[in-house]
Amino acid sequence: MTSILLRGRTLSFHRRPESLDDHASYAYEEDGALLVEDGKILARGAYDTVRAQAQADAVEIDHRPHLLLPGFIDTHLHFPQMQVIGSYAANLLEWLNTYTFPEECRFVESDHAARIAGRLFDELVRHGTTTAVAYCSVHKASADAFFAESLRRGLCMVAGKVMMDRNAPQGLLDTPQMGYDETRAIIEQWHGKGRNHVAITPRFAITSTPQQMEAAQALARDFPDLHIQTHLSENIEEIDYTCSLYPDAIDYTDIYAHYGLLGEKTLLGHAIHLSEREMDALSEAGSIAVHCPTSNLFLGSGLFPWRKLTRRDKPVRVSVATDIGGGTSYSMLRTLDEAYKIQQLLGERLNPLESFHMMTRGNAEALGLVDRIGTLEPGSDADIVVLDASATPAMALKMEVVNRLTEELFLLQTMGDDRAVIETYVAGKPAKSTLTA
Ligand code: GUN
Ligand code: ZN
Repeated sequence: MTSILLRGRTLSFHRRPESLDDHASYAYEEDGALLVEDGKILARGAYDTVRAQAQADAVEIDHRPHLLLPGFIDTHLHFPQMQVIGSYAANLLEWLNTYTFPEECRFVESDHAARIAGRLFDELVRHGTTTAVAYCSVHKASADAFFAESLRRGLCMVAGKVMMDRNAPQGLLDTPQMGYDETRAIIEQWHGKGRNHVAITPRFAITSTPQQMEAAQALARDFPDLHIQTHLSENIEEIDYTCSLYPDAIDYTDIYAHYGLLGEKTLLGHAIHLSEREMDALSEAGSIAVHCPTSNLFLGSGLFPWRKLTRRDKPVRVSVATDIGGGTSYSMLRTLDEAYKIQQLLGERLNPLESFHMMTRGNAEALGLVDRIGTLEPGSDADIVVLDASATPAMALKMEVVNRLTEELFLLQTMGDDRAVIETYVAGKPAKSTLTA
């Protein structure tokens, strides 16, 4: 097996950086290298040291002066919403009913699902994202198309068919039993195949009856190692409607707690408007609030109280995601830029080291997958992104006055997008430069 030696400026995080000066939180090599073989990182360090470890026939790819980071991780997006992006709506519920549900109906057709799956992975790779956590449509065919394509491309993906049995068009409804049976069939067919992970995916409490919540609970009991994903407290109208549908629940969070859906592998999309009691409940369960900044701004859902969640006595775990197609960009750089601006509006700071930690290791930790993805540590899967902070004329001009790594990262976050992604390696193979479209 021929190995490859990637040369460049390597950056990988050990833990969440506390400040701009927290140099112990990351490993940075100005003239660094990664030795990659059989889809895995074998060694990381100074170029001379890693070069000495490589076989004579190792193929060297010189990415200097660019940065080599772990591939980006997006912890919440909707695969059937690529053609929903940029739909003009007043708020979440209008957007769902007017554009999103009708669009998702099209995914009953496997040919359509297969075409869009190809386009999704093209876009993710183009933007440097190598792992995503996805909602498919209600149709099993959509999950089959998604997983078949991720398997073909060797990508590490987490996804599930949404379970939804009310408050949506007929073409988007399953039943509690169908939701259970089809999710189970998808798990048996796809979980652990290649780098695929199946997530139990009740869409949200509005579109699931109590009977379907029980079916989701049964799946969580039968498959306790799987991720669970759903939506929580995104929009005030949504919260009121949800609570009216579950009058016995203390609050929105309590609905999911009641059905045994809160655990360390539970990803709760949005989680913007939470009471102290709900934050305590999420903290105790170890569940993750998934911040989706471009979506929250686009749909006018609210300002995610990141610091309030993480700085309390009982902190809530946080991760960050695009939420395509409520979200408006596939880029984790654009996404963290909007997250930064939301914190500015709240009078808080989000430093660029923390942002880049979140796009990589932080999101990998949220998924419990940090031993495989999110770092450049030896033994990790070789999912790597190559970034150029001078990718556009305007960025190159600004780079003339940039002196520090943190300034460069901040520029990448503030002005960068897919143009700043020079290459994306998936399990050691170049995947962006080989895109056909
Ligand atoms: N809540 C339930 N479904 C969705 C969805 O598709 N997008 C967003 N942003 N929120 C949701
Ligand atoms: Zn969502």
